[in-house]
Amino acid sequence: MKIGIIGAGNIGSVLARRLRKMDHTVLIANSRGPETLSQLAGETGSIPVTASEAASGVDLLVLTIPLKGVPSLPKGLLAHLPATAPLVDTGNYYPPRDGHIGEIDAGMVESVWTSQVLGRPVIKTFNNITWGSLQDRGLPRGAKNRIALPVAGEDVRLKRLVMDLVETLGFDALDAGPLSESWRYQPGTPAYCSDPTLVQLPVLLQRADRQKATKNRDSTTKLFGDVVLEFPQPELVRVARLSAGLDSFKPRSWLAVVRLLLAAVRSRRTGK
Ligand SMILES: NC(=O)c1ccc[n+]([C@@H]2O[C@H](COP(=O)([O-])OP(=O)(O)OC[C@H]3O[C@@H](n4cnc5c(N)ncnc54)[C@H](OP(=O)(O)O)[C@@H]3O)[C@@H](O)[C@H]2O)c1
Repeated sequence: MKIGIIGAGNIGSVLARRLRKMDHTVLIANSRGPETLSQLAGETGSIPVTASEAASGVDLLVLTIPLKGVPSLPKGLLAHLPATAPLVDTGNYYPPRDGHIGEIDAGMVESVWTSQVLGRPVIKTFNNITWGSLQDRGLPRGAKNRIALPVAGEDVRLKRLVMDLVETLGFDALDAGPLSESWRYQPGTPAYCSDPTLVQLPVLLQRADRQKATKNRDSTTKLFGDVVLEFPQPELVRVARLSAGLDSFKPRSWLAVVRLLLAAVRSRRTGK
């Protein structure tokens, strides 16, 4: 496939690397222009382009930028994105990073907001997996502990295309219903970054509580702040799994919680 990726950070660069290994043609864009992407392009074999070029005539487009950047994307960005091409949204809303977005604060589902701003339906996936797991934890179909990813959206055919891509990247794809249901794996929910299997994922989605999710997101951001950005990703997953009610008897998971708390305390003390 010819795949466009807008956003060349943690998620965009991992996707570019992995999709190139599968021999897809990858066009990648950031906010500063293609000339700033030569290192990533050289490393992955992806083609650096502008955001508008990444969205033109591709078979699938991934939007993987912080939510605050969505309203400033070029006008007419999607004019040349074929109707047959899914638009995948990996976005999550973090007010300290994105500023307050009134509609989402008032309860609008994050990807519904993105879809309204862009004026085009989106398919929501890859938002509830850390870039570390996306990079390293894909497994062949049928493998024990294969991670399952939810995929939400209205158009069944476009969703199927995205689910097939998720599968080829080494993850079980679960149809999570329409976009309005994607709040079930937004930040603060049990399915967020906890790497569940296909057996565990539906249970976690069912257990999601909308009010609690927002509170959890805000309290963990307040407690840990940028510490999570530096913290080893497998350890973060252990912490997420414990808070999702998984692995309660695994000492390594509790150790990860202690380490994260200590890192937060250290960061407060040093002001870093
Ligand atoms: N990090 C994770 O593990 C993870 C996991 C799942 C989902 N997510 C979500 O996925 C999204 C991307 O996360 P990330 O961690 O990959 O972000 P990131 O590392 O901060 O990278 C963001 C990328 O988006 C680009 N960008 C920002 N505004 C843009 C615009 N208006 N036009 C074009 N490109 C723009 C940036 O380009 P410049 O550098 O040139 O500004 C940068 O390449 C976020 O919503 C995040 O919450 C993250």
